[in-house]
Amino acid sequence: MKFFLDTANLDEIAKAASYGFLDGVTTNPSLMAKEGIASQEERIKEICKLTDGPVSAEALSTDVPGMLAEARRLAGLAPNVAVKLPLTMAGLEATKSLSAEGIKINLTLIFSPLQALLAAKAGAHFTSPFVGRLDDIGQDGMDLVEQIIGIYNNYAYETEVIVASIRHPQHVLRAALMGADIATIPFKVIEQLAKHPLTDKGLASFLADYEKASKK
Ligand code: G3P
Repeated sequence: MKFFLDTANLDEIAKAASYGFLDGVTTNPSLMAKEGIASQEERIKEICKLTDGPVSAEALSTDVPGMLAEARRLAGLAPNVAVKLPLTMAGLEATKSLSAEGIKINLTLIFSPLQALLAAKAGAHFTSPFVGRLDDIGQDGMDLVEQIIGIYNNYAYETEVIVASIRHPQHVLRAALMGADIATIPFKVIEQLAKHPLTDKGLASFLADYEKASKK
């Protein structure tokens, strides 16, 4: 299972890389805004220097000609840029052309299995179901992921599922049990994955026992 980091923060990306947990990065305009960045291109280039894995940069155009031009520009920033487009009819049409040109498209803002089916049929390299935002409106976001994986397996689609809008370790656990290709994870959730109170307690008692024994 691949771990992408869902952030535009360079320190977090560098830290995840040093832990060995960085298979790629996803960004979006809100994550850029959180870092105080209005024009994303410089930041995308900096992120691409920290990882060889795919780095998703989101296009802001909403019409096909705009999406095509923007996606080509973003893809030219570094060889590992993947371009995020929204799952709209325009996004699907642009995906068809851009995928044929070899540009990796990440179709984002996926909230239904049929949107994910269209993404695969359009040739998207990645599809990003937003699980936390479905949980927020009283649905189980991970049910969506299960349905998407089922559909993609039925037809052997190669589109990779990125479980996105992850809020806590249970999302990551369920994604792994379902066999999702990728989870894009906020840095604080990556740290939570390593935490267990019995690990801390066990370590403290091992160290205390060692101290006691070494004083004898
Ligand atoms: O990768 C998508 C993600 O950034 C959206 O997360 O927490 O804004 O729903 P969130």
